Amino acid sequence: MIKLKNEEEIQRIREASLILIETFEEILELAEPGITTKELDRTAHAHIVSRGGRPVFLGYMDYPASLCTSVNYQVIHGIPDSRKLKSGDILSLDCGVDLKGYISDAAVTLAIGTVSPGAEKLMKVTEECLYLGIKQAICGNRIRHISQAVYNHAASHGYGVVHQFCGHGVGFDLHEEPQVPNYICSGPNPRLKKGMVLAIEPMINMGTGDITILDDEWTVETADRELSAHFEHTVVIHQDHTEILTSRDNYK
Ligand code: MF3
Ligand code: CO
Repeated sequence: MIKLKNEEEIQRIREASLILIETFEEILELAEPGITTKELDRTAHAHIVSRGGRPVFLGYMDYPASLCTSVNYQVIHGIPDSRKLKSGDILSLDCGVDLKGYISDAAVTLAIGTVSPGAEKLMKVTEECLYLGIKQAICGNRIRHISQAVYNHAASHGYGVVHQFCGHGVGFDLHEEPQVPNYICSGPNPRLKKGMVLAIEPMINMGTGDITILDDEWTVETADRELSAHFEHTVVIHQDHTEILTSRDNYK
């Protein structure tokens, strides 16, 4: 069942989203060559807790951190550790905040120091996929309009789209219905309605969309070890527009 959110509930998710935005702003400042992914995780955790929030990922299905830090050919769910970032890496950061039972989820991929033109382009196109998907996330459209927009843009650049992981409804729980695939499939294709809150999250690979999961049971890597990028926003569908809850521009 898709749980629609009323204005008051949306406001609570907005407040959780603002904490998430601040968290990203803090860790983005620190994401330079030499820092470890564990230090970024510690900073994220401290900020969320200081604002009265709860890091949603920590303990979720026994996930051991507040942040996912996926480097280079890691796609998602990289576990923060003592790895030091170096110039040329691309880093995908994924985080979620629960504020008094209302949840927001977002991700971004960024360059550490100077990265290759190919890596720059992959990040740019993946972020464009996210915004093209959001543009389709309007009342009256269907989930597949989002999927199609994301997929077409990635495919037009010859990139691979990850199939095993999807975007999702969010707000009361981290993962709610509906699923938001980044490719065209024959699954449920509900109409988009006022009050739907969605986490749209393209995961796009330089090579094929195939992935492998490491023995830690979390880290997802590209099967061909080509680079991967991930961008995610939590959005709410209003009657006549769509609001990006996890964008700083929404709060200026
Ligand atoms: N942002 C991820 C998602 O949308 C959540 C990471 S899974 C966790 O599914 F275990 F780390 F929480
Ligand atoms: Co998500």
